Amino acid sequence: MSRAVIYEAFGGPEVLQVREVPEPHAGPGEVRVRVTAAGLNPMDWGIAARPEVAAQFGITVPSGFGYDFAGVVDEIGTGAEGFAVGERVYGGALGRAAADFVVLATPGGPTESLWHTPEGIADEVAATLPVAGMTAAAALAAIDLRSGDTVLIGGAAGGVGVFAVQLAKLAGARVIGTASQSTFEFLRQFGTEPVAYGAGLADRVRALAPGGVTAATDLFGTETAETALALGVPPERISTIAAGPNPPVGVRPTGGFDASPDATARITDAILAGEITVPIAATFPIEKIRDAVTAQAERHVHGKIVVTL
Ligand SMILES: NC(=O)c1ccc[n+]([C@@H]2O[C@H](COP(=O)([O-])OP(=O)(O)OC[C@H]3O[C@@H](n4cnc5c(N)ncnc54)[C@H](OP(=O)(O)O)[C@@H]3O)[C@@H](O)[C@H]2O)c1
Repeated sequence: MSRAVIYEAFGGPEVLQVREVPEPHAGPGEVRVRVTAAGLNPMDWGIAARPEVAAQFGITVPSGFGYDFAGVVDEIGTGAEGFAVGERVYGGALGRAAADFVVLATPGGPTESLWHTPEGIADEVAATLPVAGMTAAAALAAIDLRSGDTVLIGGAAGGVGVFAVQLAKLAGARVIGTASQSTFEFLRQFGTEPVAYGAGLADRVRALAPGGVTAATDLFGTETAETALALGVPPERISTIAAGPNPPVGVRPTGGFDASPDATARITDAILAGEITVPIAATFPIEKIRDAVTAQAERHVHGKIVVTL
């Protein structure tokens, strides 16, 4: 037997149960990963809470939980290519990552991914990259961010934000990031100039950057995208990842699935070079999955939350 987070009805953290389930095994063309860390993302509990969101991902109940994971390959099915028992890996497995074992096809399908974990990257760090790292890379690629830009990043201290602000800085941009006042010092460690979100944002950004903002990405709702439009940023230089069905007209909705396939490798290279750090706000053992979700659902986490197994 092995452990897996399962929910049988849609709802909040209370529907999540850590169950003993039969151990899955790698079939032909598949590998099994012994999971050691599962990164948590708002989409995980968004899917579990809202059937209409789950339907978009083809998920019905009962369901497993989670997407991001890292661990070690411990079984190889016949014909599976590219991986060997004992190799460290990380990736994504929609609706089943928070479990002792994840079985994946090689090559993966549209809702799964698997990469080798580079030496020097801890599992807890690798388990933060597939959703947040790739989404941050996609959000900046969508606006063709380049050296010399002044970029406004909304929701700069969250799971996606911590990657976005550092990738933007690496690209040579001046970075202004929205956060609440108590988060300002946290953001400054990444060379980000903090600005408070909420009413009057445009005036505060004007005061910080009288020469103007040239690009923006909104990682939290639509306030930053709308502010950037009001500040005269061309819509094609504004991206959004969390605007819902009606993003401001002309701006570019994007997400992790749009990222370039080498996005996570570029991030692990930057981590190994000391150019990017991954702030892990908290880790929770799998038995505390409800506490982990509750903490992230308050929407004031700085960096990533990781569940350990
Ligand atoms: N499209 C995709 O592929 C994709 C992928 C990943 C995420 N997403 C979505 O993108 C959003 C961000 O994800 P995440 O993982 O970064 O979330 P997160 O970690 O929960 O974000 C937390 C951050 O949001 C900030 N925040 C709270 N209220 C805010 C407000 N009103 N305005 C601006 N920032 C605010 C907080 O800063 P303070 O503590 O300072 O308040 C906190 O640092 C979520 O809605 C998620 O579902 C989409």
